[in-house]
Amino acid sequence: MALVNTKKMFEMAYKNGYAIGAFNVNNMEITQGIIEAVAEEKAPLILQVSKGGREYASLSYLRAIIDVVVEENPDIPIAINLDHGDTFETCKQFVDAGFTSVMIDASSKPFEENIEITKQVVEYAHPRDVVVEAELGQLGGIEEEVVGVDDVDTHVADPEQVQEFVEKSGCDSLAIACGTSHGAYKFKTAPTLAFDVIEEIQKRLPGFPLVMHGSSSVLKEFVDLINKYGGQMPNAMGVPEEMVSRASKMGMCKVNIDTDLRLALTSKIRQVFAEIPSEFDPRKYLGPGREAIKEMVKHKLHVVGCAGKAAECR
Ligand code: G3H
Ligand code: 13P
Ligand code: ZN
Repeated sequence: MALVNTKKMFEMAYKNGYAIGAFNVNNMEITQGIIEAVAEEKAPLILQVSKGGREYASLSYLRAIIDVVVEENPDIPIAINLDHGDTFETCKQFVDAGFTSVMIDASSKPFEENIEITKQVVEYAHPRDVVVEAELGQLGGIEEEVVGVDDVDTHVADPEQVQEFVEKSGCDSLAIACGTSHGAYKFKTAPTLAFDVIEEIQKRLPGFPLVMHGSSSVLKEFVDLINKYGGQMPNAMGVPEEMVSRASKMGMCKVNIDTDLRLALTSKIRQVFAEIPSEFDPRKYLGPGREAIKEMVKHKLHVVGCAGKAAECR
């Protein structure tokens, strides 16, 4: 099946109380690890490319890799999304490159300006059958290309503004700040998410798909492996998986996970280097790294609940 946009996926996810996993791709091994997991678990899939991903690998290489994925997996509905597009121009480039979904992240701009930029992207994308994700409120944490704020609590989205934003901008889905942040250091104290805010937004906008960024759980097992084999990641902390599962049943139809895949890959590569110091064949460490990504993604598909849902999303 050809690439699809996220409309049907979100409709089914919302109706049946699960989320679609959205995973970032930056090279062939990451992409292969993801698709092998998704194929085994018969899940729908959103692959996404950030501006940083484009700069690292180039859009033409990533598009070619994704084309192979689509061709070899005709039974899986696959959408490709620009992650955190910063300007209209960036979004336009990705629409023109055949992406079926683009995110315009103008969340750092004033409210009215965010609406205007989002509207502009919607007007370009919709006639081309491309859906638009927007963002409201600022996520905490600092990550390459994605700079958020430190004080998460004061940046949780305001349900009233969310309603106005969706109505005025015409976006198809919305990432809302609800306590998560990007990267491996999400909380300094006990993790909490603003479930009351998510619930209130759902009441105001029934059926409207929300998106949760910063959904990695930073699993202790992987941080421990990294630290054991020479890494330094003290105090790393993510969103507990039971919270991710709970949000996935509450209209968070798309759950973005990147950091957990990075941790899986890095921990395995570190382990190979530490245990076999003479190894210098990239296939001997990238191969196990790819396998670690596959296992991580298989696990995440159950956390968000979309394992086995490929057929109903077609
Ligand atoms: O939202 C952040 C994603 O993890 C992408 O990160 O901008 O470093 O590619 P990146
Ligand atoms: P994590 O850093 O929690 O994996 O979040 C990724 C993300 O939100 C990509 O847009
Ligand atoms: Zn994000």
